[in-house]
Amino acid sequence: MNFELTEEQIAVKEAARDFAQNVLKPGVIERDNQQKFPTEEIKQLAELGFMGMMVDPKYGGSGMDTLSYVLAMEEISKVDASTSVCMSVNNSLVCWGIEKFGTEEQKQKYLVPLATGEKIGAFCLSEPEAGSDATSQQTTAIDMGDHYLLNGTKNWITNGSSASIYLVVAQTNKELGHKGINVVIVERGMEGFIVGAKEDKLGIRGSDTHTLLFNDVKVPKENRIGEDGFGFTFAMKVLSGGRIGIAAQALGIAGGAFELALAYSQERKTFGKEIYKHQAIAFKLADMATEIEAAKLLVYRSASDKDNGRNYDQSSAMAKLYASKVAMEQTVEAVQIHGGYGFVKEYHVERLMRDAKITQIYEGTSEIQKIVISRGLLKS
Ligand code: CAA
Repeated sequence: MNFELTEEQIAVKEAARDFAQNVLKPGVIERDNQQKFPTEEIKQLAELGFMGMMVDPKYGGSGMDTLSYVLAMEEISKVDASTSVCMSVNNSLVCWGIEKFGTEEQKQKYLVPLATGEKIGAFCLSEPEAGSDATSQQTTAIDMGDHYLLNGTKNWITNGSSASIYLVVAQTNKELGHKGINVVIVERGMEGFIVGAKEDKLGIRGSDTHTLLFNDVKVPKENRIGEDGFGFTFAMKVLSGGRIGIAAQALGIAGGAFELALAYSQERKTFGKEIYKHQAIAFKLADMATEIEAAKLLVYRSASDKDNGRNYDQSSAMAKLYASKVAMEQTVEAVQIHGGYGFVKEYHVERLMRDAKITQIYEGTSEIQKIVISRGLLKS
C-alpha cells in the first residue's frame, strides 16, 4: 500500500484543516457548553463539498475517494468531533447507502439534497432493546400493500432533530429473523413521526442525539431500500464503511490532543526548563506519536481496501477498534501533560477526552468490533 498522498488529497486535507482551525475552533467550547448543533458550520462544510464527499458528481457529490474522506474527517475531528459525527453519518451511512443500493428515483429525490448538504440524513438502527444485538428489532414495518405501517422507537439517533431524511431499520416479518428486516426512508413531516427527547451527553455535546417515535407512520413502498428482507444486510454493509469514518474521527481526536500537548510542552516550564525536556514528558509524547501513527496506518489501510474494491469488513473493524482505543488513551495522556490546565475547558484537551469515549461505543462497541474480527478470522 502506498500512502503517498496525491495533490488532490493534500488539497482536501489542507482545506479541512483550514476550516477546522479557523471556522470550527473559535466556537467549539461554546457549542459544547450549550449543546448547540453546528448549523451554520455544517452549511459551510456543505459548500466545501464535504457532506457528500464520495458521491458521484451527477448526484451532487464531490466524487472523491475514501482516503480523501478520511483525511477530511481526521482534520475536522482534531477540533470538533460534534461536527465530524454529523458529517460522518451523512457521508458514509446515509449517502453511501442510498447511492449503492437505492433506486434511481430514491437517488434523485433523496441523495441529491443529502450530497449537496441541502438536507441532513440520519441512520436509525438502535433501539431501547436493540443496540449491539441489531437483529432484535422491535420496530415494525408492516406490509400494507402500497405502503408500510411503521411503529416503534429508536434511540441514540445522531442528527435526530437536524435531519430531514431518515433511514429506518424495522422488522417486517419476525419469523424470518434478520431476513425479515427492511430499511425504509422516512421524511421529516410524515404523519406520526415524532422527534423525541434530546440526550444530555458526556461528549460530542454539540451533536443532536435524540429518541425518535414512529406511530402508524405510512411509508410508501417505493421508499424501501433493496429487495424485501435486505434491511439487515444493508445495515451491516453501511456500518462497515461507517466504521472507517468513525475510526478516522478517533484518529483525529487523538491527533488533535497530541498537537495540543506537543505545543504546550514547548511553552510550559517547570524546574527551569520546558517540560518536553523532562524525560517523563518526552517519553509520553514519543508513545503518543507512535500509537497515533500505528492507528493511522490501520485507518488508511481500510480506506485503501474500500477504494480498491477489497473486502473491508475486517479492516474497518480493526481500524475502529484500535483508533478508538488510541483516542481514549492518548487524550488522557494529553490532559496529564497539561496538568491542572488540562482539566479546564479553555485548553480543549478535556473536551477531546470526553469526545473520545463515544468512538468506543457508536457504530458498534469495541466488543462488537472484536466479534466481527474474530468471526472473520474463523472464516478465513
Ligand atoms: N455484510 C453483509 N452481510 C453481513 C455482514 C456484512 N458486513 N455482517 C453480517 N452479515 C450477514 C451474515 O452473513 C448473516 O447472513 P446469513 O444468515 O444469510 O449468512 C446475517 O447478516 C446475520 O449475521 P450474524 O449471524 O453475524 O448476526 P448477529 O446477530 O450475530 O450480529 C453483529 C452480528 C456483527 C454483532 C451485528 O449485530 C452488529 O454489527 N451489531 C452492532 C450494530 C451497530 O453497529 N450498532 C450501531 C448503531 S448505528 C450508529 O451508531 C450510528 C451513529 O449514530 C453514529
